[in-house]
Amino acid sequence: MTIPAIPRLGVNLDHVATLRNARGGSHPDPVRAALAAAQAGADGITVHLREDRRHIGDLDLPRIMAATRLPLNLEMAATDEMTEIACHLSPHAICLVPERRAERTTEGGLDVVGDFARLSRIVPKLAAAGMRVSLFIGPDADQVRAAHQVAAHVVELHTGAYGEAAVGPARADELRRLTEAAKLADEIGLEVHAGHGLTFDNVGSVAALPQVAELNIGHFLVGEALFVGLVAAIQEMRALIAAGRSGQSS
Ligand code: PXP
Repeated sequence: MTIPAIPRLGVNLDHVATLRNARGGSHPDPVRAALAAAQAGADGITVHLREDRRHIGDLDLPRIMAATRLPLNLEMAATDEMTEIACHLSPHAICLVPERRAERTTEGGLDVVGDFARLSRIVPKLAAAGMRVSLFIGPDADQVRAAHQVAAHVVELHTGAYGEAAVGPARADELRRLTEAAKLADEIGLEVHAGHGLTFDNVGSVAALPQVAELNIGHFLVGEALFVGLVAAIQEMRALIAAGRSGQSS
């Protein structure tokens, strides 16, 4: 497994669809946003098909896949319905995420330890259909080990607590947890991604973790796009990721 010199940026388009759905029409179109992301140098597109379809809808998925060559990372709950959709569409990657409270650990990621039997069934099924399978987990050693045991290829470390922590000791503590989880995951052969709540101000330290191969970022980029445009927002994020990895940011 080769870790890229600069972490890849997957642009999450869920909230383009949130805005579209607010009026129930077709504007703004996530497909247009995917094309803008490609133009800006994004390495992938990420969308979350929720069970309640509150943002991305079923019809968005084939449209996005047809419009761009960027790999699609489909986030979804670990259910039989979603597994069937994924196997039919066959995107590049799947990231299994919690949608119900009971599926979460205290850190907000999947409870792989508690949901071991179900994930041991679903992860290999998705992998056998040719998709890379990632589990969205909190930075917790037991969850990392369990992700490996259910045969996931990747763990995406939940950076929400890090992003919300006050700058100072609290944030340093969250960064330490991410650092340790990333090291352990890499040591046992898992690819490491990270995401949730990342912004221009906090992305640098996560990009600096040498094991991190990919960052998935959405809400901040879509919000920032209101002021500077999506292409400029993504370009700035890429520059900050590169600076973070090369040790030029805090
Ligand atoms: N990674 C995963 C697995 C997610 O579910 C999300 C969306 O919550 C993100 C990354 C992106 O988070 P944000 O929209 O806060 O950047």
